[in-house]
Amino acid sequence: MKCSVSRTVRLLIALLLIVSMLAACSNGGNQSTQENTTPTPTEVPATPTATEVPASPTPTPNPLDSMTLKEKYKDDFMIGVAMPANIINNAAFKDVIVGNFNSMTFENETKPDAILRKDECQKGLPDTYTEPVINVSAIARSMQFAKENGIKVRFHTLIWHSQTPSWFFTEDYTPNGQRVTRDVMLKRMESYIRQVMTYMEENYPGQIYCYDVVNEAIDPPHGDANGMRKDSPWYEVIGPDFMNYAFEYARKYAPEGVDLYYNDYNCFSKSAQIIECLRPIKEAGNIDGIGMQSHISTTDNVDRQIRGTAAKFSAEGYKVQLTELDIGVSSTNKNAEELQAMKYCVLFKKMQQGKQNGTINIDCITIWGLYDSVSWRREEMPLLYRFDGSKLVKKRAWYGAMQDPEIKAVEY
Ligand code: GLA
Repeated sequence: MKCSVSRTVRLLIALLLIVSMLAACSNGGNQSTQENTTPTPTEVPATPTATEVPASPTPTPNPLDSMTLKEKYKDDFMIGVAMPANIINNAAFKDVIVGNFNSMTFENETKPDAILRKDECQKGLPDTYTEPVINVSAIARSMQFAKENGIKVRFHTLIWHSQTPSWFFTEDYTPNGQRVTRDVMLKRMESYIRQVMTYMEENYPGQIYCYDVVNEAIDPPHGDANGMRKDSPWYEVIGPDFMNYAFEYARKYAPEGVDLYYNDYNCFSKSAQIIECLRPIKEAGNIDGIGMQSHISTTDNVDRQIRGTAAKFSAEGYKVQLTELDIGVSSTNKNAEELQAMKYCVLFKKMQQGKQNGTINIDCITIWGLYDSVSWRREEMPLLYRFDGSKLVKKRAWYGAMQDPEIKAVEY
């Protein structure tokens, strides 16, 4: 009896349980739907059709991104960059600079107007009359940076008609003063070259691998019978042979193995005059190379202007460098970036082929600036990088310089 009573109780409990579960299914179902986030059909967001799918924000990785410029050309020539000395203060640039470049030029800090000190020259008279006072301290941190990161430095430039103070050529270094004699100016020239080269070697031994000894001395349309620029204070005070002396002094004080360069723009248009004016300097053994500045545009013909001229100088026994390369492009052209990339591609291809087939003795290609907005030609966006406010972004031009097979290496 006891047993049958408890069985009845258990049956009753089971019945009660079934009834309460059925109730839960009909009423409590709503509660379960709220917890379950499955939306009703009208709440489902519309699936985009294929044509509405926005372009993928992550571009397909380019295999070239695992390489850098200096690695790509390591068997052919160095890759340089011109920089204002303070650019190394920005840590965001360090990886790009160190990764891509193994040569460096100061954009302004090693020009005579940055190095010569008027007040000290005047205060030190008469001792300083033929011994001008110099100061090269502005580049100290950058030279340290270059040393730490294995970057060699090309020194630009010792003797130039521009960015050289007019007081350097006058009696007692007075602005608008009487010009000194040829003999005095030759002494000042020798002293300046000696002091700069000695300072650089003593403070930064082995870091400078070449000097632009003379910049832009040849300008046939405004020149003398040989094409030497006449509107240069060096020409006016010393005479047409000032360049011979500059190279003679440079060779005298340059450390063994440091190359001496003549540097100029539009070399294709005056290559014959350059070769003739440099001939006695070459024969005296006082010059090693010719720097072709190469401030060009997408409309220029690289094969004729750059490759052809570089091959001509090489055939005369010179080393060649492209010392200030930038390729400007009209920003109104809707294919601007691509045209520019193609031009960089053609140029690097021709230089590499020339080096490899022995027709161009090219030693270094220097890009004249790190990114577009610091370029002297910034409206023409001529460089390989742009700065987005926090980091450097490679342009198509960088891929062109890397000879990306996706970029057409043709000239239009
Ligand atoms: C010339 C000089 C350079 C630089 C550019 C303009 O090419 O050689 O040092 O001043 O002009 O930036």
